[in-house]
Amino acid sequence: MSPAMAVLTTENKESQYQNGVKRLHENGISKVPNKYILPVLERPNITKHQEANVTKNNLKLPIIDFHELQGPNRPQVLESLASACEQYGFFQLVNHGIPSDVVSNMIDVGTKFFELPFEERAKYMSSDMRAPVRYGTSFNQNKDRVFCWRDFLKLVCHPLPDVLPHWPSSPVDMRNLAATYAKETKYLFLMLMEAIFESLGLVESSSSPAKKKTTEEDEVLKEFEDGSQLMVVNCYPPCPQPDLTLGMPPHSDYGFLTLLLQDEVEGLQIQFQDEWVTVEPIANSFVVNVGDHLEIFSNGKYKSVLHRVLVNSRKDRISVASLHSLPFMRPVGPSPKLVDELNPKRYKDTDFASFIEYISSREPKKKNFLESRKLT
Ligand code: OGA
Ligand code: NI
Repeated sequence: MSPAMAVLTTENKESQYQNGVKRLHENGISKVPNKYILPVLERPNITKHQEANVTKNNLKLPIIDFHELQGPNRPQVLESLASACEQYGFFQLVNHGIPSDVVSNMIDVGTKFFELPFEERAKYMSSDMRAPVRYGTSFNQNKDRVFCWRDFLKLVCHPLPDVLPHWPSSPVDMRNLAATYAKETKYLFLMLMEAIFESLGLVESSSSPAKKKTTEEDEVLKEFEDGSQLMVVNCYPPCPQPDLTLGMPPHSDYGFLTLLLQDEVEGLQIQFQDEWVTVEPIANSFVVNVGDHLEIFSNGKYKSVLHRVLVNSRKDRISVASLHSLPFMRPVGPSPKLVDELNPKRYKDTDFASFIEYISSREPKKKNFLESRKLT
């Protein structure tokens, strides 16, 4: 082969990877291309047990009952919530009250989107990090040297009336179902933030009769109503050699909270006591995790924990992550009430715009962004 031909072939190969792993899987492959093979030390180290689906290193996350949170046991549930956010940075939310068809419709329409002909999906490819809709692959496909085994559809959800016309028009019911789902998760997020503020001792119970005046913290809670929301539909097709790659590399999420809906296929792992442990999917629940902004806001009390995604050789896996924060340009810093002599301010103020700048300028590696905001 002439050198020119060799270059051309390499380029073609590279652009093929830009088209995503669903496409690779559809074209049928029996080995993972080099582009996805991680250095030995970064590989997931899947044991034979896990591949055989033996639940060994599995973790039962703390369970928070959303319905119970609204009732007379609220103080006890708030305590569990606080300890979950401090010790795990994660919990499973059950009895969340979102109708089951809203949830299953979201998974179904997400699945259908990734089953569309490639040309249809490709219409939404964009390298603009701020585009209201973005279809893509890997973590940051413009920067990642090794790609990860994931395709995604990112939908900006706020303000909904402005962004909705940009969302995919196919599958036909995508806009409708995803908008309903976005509104429901937003409501859940608002209710959870109220509980989290209460658990941090920042606001009094909304039902408390002693409550008189509106505080600064009540005002912050109001700001969430107009906050940013990003929905990410993640698609992890079967991978012929799952021990060589990852669906998502170790990372933390940027916002206050992420509400993750996973189907029944395992894959999510979180770092717990210096080990990677698999989160067991629970039907009709959300995996909720503390993001970087909440770690900063709580001045380090609540932890934004590293997590990653394993892939498997047998089943497609779909997840829908809903990431929530304050309005886009609103700076986030430690809450003044959580800063005193014993607990000095541990983080610089930050905003979403500086985060976007950060991730588009370099390869996101682990908790770098949060580390960059630390004061000590
Ligand atoms: C994310 C994420 C986990 C999963 O989207 O940030 O961590 O299981 N997803 O897909
Ligand atoms: Ni995440």
